[in-house]
Amino acid sequence: MKENGNRQDAYIDTHKDRFIEELKAFLRFPSVSAQQARDADTMACAQWLRAHLAELGLDAEMVDQGGQPIIVARGAGASGRRVAVYGHYDVQPEDPLDLWHNGPFDPIVKDNVIYARGATDDKGQFFAHVKAVEALLQTEGRLPCNVVFLIEGEEESGGEALARYVRSTGKDLNPDALVISDGDMHDANTPAINYGLRGIVTFEVTITGPDHDLHSGAYGGAVANPAVVLAQILGQCVSPEGRVTIPGFYDDVIPLEDWEVENIRKLQFDDQTLVRDTGSPRLHGEPGQGSLARLWARPTFEINGIYGGYQGQHTKTIIPSRAAAKLSTRLVPNQEYDAMRDRVFDYIRSICPDTVSLEITEFGGGPPVLIDTATPELQVAMDALRHGFNAEPVFTRSGGSIPIITTFAQQWGCPIILMGLGLDSDGPHSPNEHFSLDSFVKGIKASAQLLKTI
Ligand code: BES
Ligand code: ZN
Repeated sequence: MKENGNRQDAYIDTHKDRFIEELKAFLRFPSVSAQQARDADTMACAQWLRAHLAELGLDAEMVDQGGQPIIVARGAGASGRRVAVYGHYDVQPEDPLDLWHNGPFDPIVKDNVIYARGATDDKGQFFAHVKAVEALLQTEGRLPCNVVFLIEGEEESGGEALARYVRSTGKDLNPDALVISDGDMHDANTPAINYGLRGIVTFEVTITGPDHDLHSGAYGGAVANPAVVLAQILGQCVSPEGRVTIPGFYDDVIPLEDWEVENIRKLQFDDQTLVRDTGSPRLHGEPGQGSLARLWARPTFEINGIYGGYQGQHTKTIIPSRAAAKLSTRLVPNQEYDAMRDRVFDYIRSICPDTVSLEITEFGGGPPVLIDTATPELQVAMDALRHGFNAEPVFTRSGGSIPIITTFAQQWGCPIILMGLGLDSDGPHSPNEHFSLDSFVKGIKASAQLLKTI
């Protein structure tokens, strides 16, 4: 076993510069799934990825389920074990462009860190598994177990194509384990298995008042201002201290278990890291909770974007006809998606005055995830991380969401290994997104080890 491990590790060390060049090529595609204008680029990215997986010797196809194409690539293995690897090749929009130090789709490497949109979320992370498969095929001639890659192109825009595909395959794929690297390590030197993710409901609220913009002197004071109404509604959803004030919002939240409280204590998280990483003047959150508890085990209500009225230079004295906000609420165990959506939407409807009209559009999301840390496959994954990173891994939860996991769990019920390789501070969804090439190479080694031992 040790011998073999060294063989893959040696191969990975020898070829890592080429792996990085390949990752750069992958990152050059502006595969922004949320923007129709980028559909051709997203398609080109999918084609590149399919061809790359086929060149490695996998049976790789592009599946059309509506929306962005899905890549399904299979490799037969020596054992009968079946392992599915999930990832997404789509990325978030790159704006605001002026804050980037390099072109978001013109990757650069500085101090062993690669900078580009999608570097950590999720191209760099899941490409580690692709390179692990290459290392195993090149050193052993065949894979240790059956591997199927399921790579989607619309995770960042809440697409449904992969869920449709997975449901349509019935029990066909039925893996013994599912591996996902689309999350975070504990810190730059401490790899982690994520045993929990928050869920999310994403939606938009639009308030319309007058049927056209009005002179605020001629009409101000006599008709409702939709932007003011929107601000008032949103202000009634969260208290200044950071508690969500929607009735029943916390009813189904389960507290951290004792071992989790102890785990958090041992992880010795330093709040100053959050201040530094975020550039915020100071931290803010629900009273009575530590930062990790706030991020992992408490639900939130967020305004992701708010707009309406005049946004140009200087001033324009109007009552805007409409104002809107892009909103999301993060869910934690045991909050249910439908129940929480209804609670939030009903409350907003109930406090909206009849001086304006209200429209709520749901964009989707999914429930929270909690995985039993006693699952034997998680121990195998911890060993694989120990091997790849030469460091002691830990169990963490994450504040982000991967809605498709629920479909996988319903369909297969197999153990899910969330082997996050990124860092929250990598800037996913932010300007100057980046990914440590040290984590990339160690992640490849961990993945090769995992596929051999699972
Ligand atoms: N990779 C993230 C999810 C993530 C982030 C997991 C950090 C663990 C730690 C994923 O690509 C993502 O951003 N998901 C969205 C889902 C939404 C668009 C429905 C999210 O969490 O906002
Ligand atoms: Zn992601």
